[in-house]
Amino acid sequence: MRIIGRGLGWQIEEHTFGEDLDITSAEQIANIAGQGFTEAFVYLPDPPDTPAQSNGEQPAPPGFHPSAPLAEELPKARALHNQCTKYAQKFMTDMGNGKFSYDEAEPFVENLLHSTQRNPGALLSLAQLHQSDSYTYRHCINVSILSIAVAQYLGKPSNEIFIAGYAGLFHDLGKALIPQHVLNAQRKLNPAEFKVIQKHPTMGYNALLQVPKVQDDVLSATLEHHEKFDGSGYPAGLCGTSISRIGSIVGMADVYDALTSKRPYKDAISPSKALGIMFQMQDKAWPKGLLTEFIQMLGVYPVGSVVELANGALAIVTDTSESAVKPKVVIVRTPEGTPTHEQCNLTSYADLTITAAFTPEEKEVDVLGVMEACTQ
Ligand SMILES: [Fe+2]
Repeated sequence: MRIIGRGLGWQIEEHTFGEDLDITSAEQIANIAGQGFTEAFVYLPDPPDTPAQSNGEQPAPPGFHPSAPLAEELPKARALHNQCTKYAQKFMTDMGNGKFSYDEAEPFVENLLHSTQRNPGALLSLAQLHQSDSYTYRHCINVSILSIAVAQYLGKPSNEIFIAGYAGLFHDLGKALIPQHVLNAQRKLNPAEFKVIQKHPTMGYNALLQVPKVQDDVLSATLEHHEKFDGSGYPAGLCGTSISRIGSIVGMADVYDALTSKRPYKDAISPSKALGIMFQMQDKAWPKGLLTEFIQMLGVYPVGSVVELANGALAIVTDTSESAVKPKVVIVRTPEGTPTHEQCNLTSYADLTITAAFTPEEKEVDVLGVMEACTQ
């Protein structure tokens, strides 16, 4: 059993995943409990004698296998994210005008998939760097990226990853059919307006039903992404396993992107804080195992996170493939406050733990500029 985070830590301290260690004795468990932690978030790897699949091959363990360095993929991903955001504006407008074309999405989803295969950190880090304008359109793309990344992380075949991308892209299609003055209201909605907003999953689903060849998973994600595991969601109040897996995956991506986004009425919060909030929602909003996979996919401090180290230095996370809690980073400010671009693998330094995470705005860090400037 291996600890990759502590449950209660989310509630009592910002730095929630303080240690990454193997549990090998009852004393360690007693010691952790003695520190006041009542829950631990653990990763149980498959035992070595896991039966082979029917084709005689062992299933691939969850994970990413990037083929391109982050610095090489980032400029391509940045251009792609901008193109896709423009496309999202087009398909939402087309839906409102009755001119929606489902097939038009194919090259965009394909390019998102290929970029994620080359290096998922590029698009995933862009997904957490929000601008307050064009939120609705960027949100469609970000949820698509996150859904693709989950499917890819879990080793799904390309056709399933592709469908996950479509599902994320079109999950909020019904919003194109909601009156603009309700959808874009920069204030708290009244109960009647909220009821109107709550119609968007059904409206999107009904619109996609009229389109030939839309995959079942895309329909399910559109209809069910606001359903909650405990039955408190909408539109149908489905609960438990009656909610499709893709509906829950897209729902998690939807909440994560909303939490980490800056909006006119709220500041962005850091990815690790967002994951902490979602961790407290597990079993209420989504099945526990699925949320665990989502957090493992992103890492506790996703690529692009701005973090403070135990020595006071400020850094940007660039690679979480070796360790979720001691990733590779680029140090942008020394403990004395001097600007630098020093690359550092935290696994090489026992004492150099991450002590806090911030949004780029909180620390005035140009995350993309630094990551693009760093060669690997
Ligand atoms: Fe939605």
